[in-house]
Parts: sequence; structure tokens; C-alpha cells
Amino acid sequence: VKTRKFFKHFEPYEWETPTEAIASSIRIDPKDIFRLDTNTSPFIPVKPLYELSQKLPRMAVNQYPDTSYLKIRRALSTYCRINEDRFVMTNGADEGLDIIAKTFLDPGEEAAIISPTYSMFRIMTQIMDGKLISIKRRTDFSVDTHQVIKRTKNKTKLIFLCSPNNPTGNVMPLEDVSLLAEESKAIIAIDEAYYEFCGKSAIGLTDRHENMIIVRTFSKAFSMAGVRVGYLVASKPTIDELNKVRPPNSLSNISLELAQMALQNVESMKENVALIVSERERCLQALREIKELEAYPSDANFILFKVKNMDANLVHSRLLKKGFVLRNLANVPLVENCLRVTICTPEINGAFLDALKYVL
Ligand SMILES: Cc1ncc(COP(=O)(O)O)c(C=O)c1O
Repeated sequence: VKTRKFFKHFEPYEWETPTEAIASSIRIDPKDIFRLDTNTSPFIPVKPLYELSQKLPRMAVNQYPDTSYLKIRRALSTYCRINEDRFVMTNGADEGLDIIAKTFLDPGEEAAIISPTYSMFRIMTQIMDGKLISIKRRTDFSVDTHQVIKRTKNKTKLIFLCSPNNPTGNVMPLEDVSLLAEESKAIIAIDEAYYEFCGKSAIGLTDRHENMIIVRTFSKAFSMAGVRVGYLVASKPTIDELNKVRPPNSLSNISLELAQMALQNVESMKENVALIVSERERCLQALREIKELEAYPSDANFILFKVKNMDANLVHSRLLKKGFVLRNLANVPLVENCLRVTICTPEINGAFLDALKYVL
């Protein structure tokens, strides 16, 4: 089939191998596989699911959802303390990134990413036929804001930031984001998929800066990656532009119901987050005590660590054989020979740490 020209040089998203496929390749039961590679939550949101089950028999799935998504925008307005007319609902954060790229990038225009970072920024740019500029982080993973300003001063249309950043786990200080928003004429999209694990957000800056867009999701802290709900926050004029591009019906009645229930019970999300954060600190300590590793601090629900005197690919594959799936970043510049592990329940984290020590 004849595809668009950009396909010639396009590296698609590296899809995670399905659990069933991993299980059959190493001949173990799928229930003994622990997905520590997707930064999702180990907790199933039982209460919202149960409440949904009560509502399901009478749910008007014969009708489209309210395409203005007013009810959930009202609930988000309370959660984020931002007016309800400043949200665009999306099918996960990924659709939010897609809508941003489609709204602002003309073919050939520049979009900047600060590497290493979430791969969908590159993918959305390339699909729009945009020109990707990759600016390297410092060796401590911080963003050299002055360099970003310098390199994006004239032509760059869109800058993707990620805070906390996947895969490095660090946040970008608010002063730096603010400086960038002031100095740059570009649209600044900040992916805050992991916001709840650190509580540090640039959302307040959208009051003052029309060029700023916050990208959020229910996939991580709210334990609803399979539900597919995300949202964008920006100033009203920017929201009006994004609304021209977003599809009218990309969220289902069922997803909306679940996300609304999650917002009625924010305390439960906060309890889960508190447990993950305390486990994160415990795991960081434990990883730092292993002399073959260098583990980096994290503000998210995962930890990045470097394997010092051994090939990380080997550590990755040996852990896999024991049922622990990690994200392998061994060949990614600046995080060479690194692996990324999602923080899970105390029991699974403990089992992972034991397996890692054994493998090393
Ligand atoms: C930084 C970042 N943004 C967005 C996503 C995807 O979020 P969603 O499930 O809401 O599409 C991920 C998933 O890992 C992520 O790490």
C-alpha cells in the first residue's frame, strides 16, 4: 500500500509486548507476569466498577455522550480549581497530544522535545510532517532552559515538556516553565501524566500564558489506564482552538461514568498515591544499596536506574525470565544501560528487588 512520504523515515511507537505473548515465550502462567514497564497502577478501582455495574443495565449507550462533556468538566473544575470552560476532554493523554499537534503544527514547522522523553511527542510531530528538534537534557536530567529558549527563539512552533519526565522521573521547576512561557513565542505543551505523584503542577500558569497547555490523564494515579480518559487545560482562547480539532465523540459513556466516579472519590486515589510514593522512596533506598546500580530519584510512580558493570539488556532479559517486565532503555542516549521500573504493591516490589539482586 502507498502511505504518506514521512513513513519512509518513520520509527513507529514501540508497542509493549502483550502479557500472553511474554508468558508463552518463557513458558510461565500469564498471572505470574508482573508488568513493571507501563507505569500503570497495581490497584483495580473496585468501587467505581461496582457502582458502574449497578448503572449499566439502564445506561443509554444507544445515544452518543453529551459531546460537550459538561458533567465531567464540572467535576474536573472542582478537582483542578480551574473554570469548567478551560478543559478539553480527550481519549487519554495521547489523544490530547494528538489534538495539540494537529491544532498547531503545519507541515515543515518545528516542534522541540527535551530528550530523553516520552516518545509520543516525536511521533505526533512526525505524523504531522513537522520538523523535530531534539534538545538534550543535562547529565542530571534537568532542562537547560536558556538553551531551550535560544534554540526555539525564532521558528519553533511547539515545545513539548514532560513533568515529571518519563523516563527520568524529575520535575521541571515552575520558574523555568514560567520563564520559557514568557520568553518563547511557541506553544508550550506540558505533559503532567504523573502530576499526582508529586503535586507540582504548572496548571496555574495557564491563567497568565495563552501559549501554555497542560496535558493530564486518569491512566496513572486514578488507576484507569484501560478506561482511556484524559484532559487538556489551557486559557479560554486556546481551548476554543483545540475544540475545533478534537473529535466530537472520542470518549464513551462508560469511560465518562467511571472517570466521574473517580472524581467523586478523590480520597481513594490519594491513598493509593501515598502508598506508591512511600514504596517509591523505600525502593529507591533499596536500589541505592545495590552496588552494581545507580538509581535516580523520582517524582513519579517509577524509578530509573543504571546498571554499572553489566549489560542492562542481559539484566532485562533475565528479569523477564523471572516474570518481571521492565522498560529497557539500554540504547537510549543519556540513559544508556538504564532500566525503568514501575512502583507496585509492597509485596511485588519486594519480590522484584529480590529477583534483581539474584539476577545481578
Ligand atoms: C508522559 C506520558 N504521557 C502520556 C502517557 C499516556 O497516557 P494515556 O494513557 O492517558 O494516553 C504516558 C503513558 O505511559 C506517559 O508516560
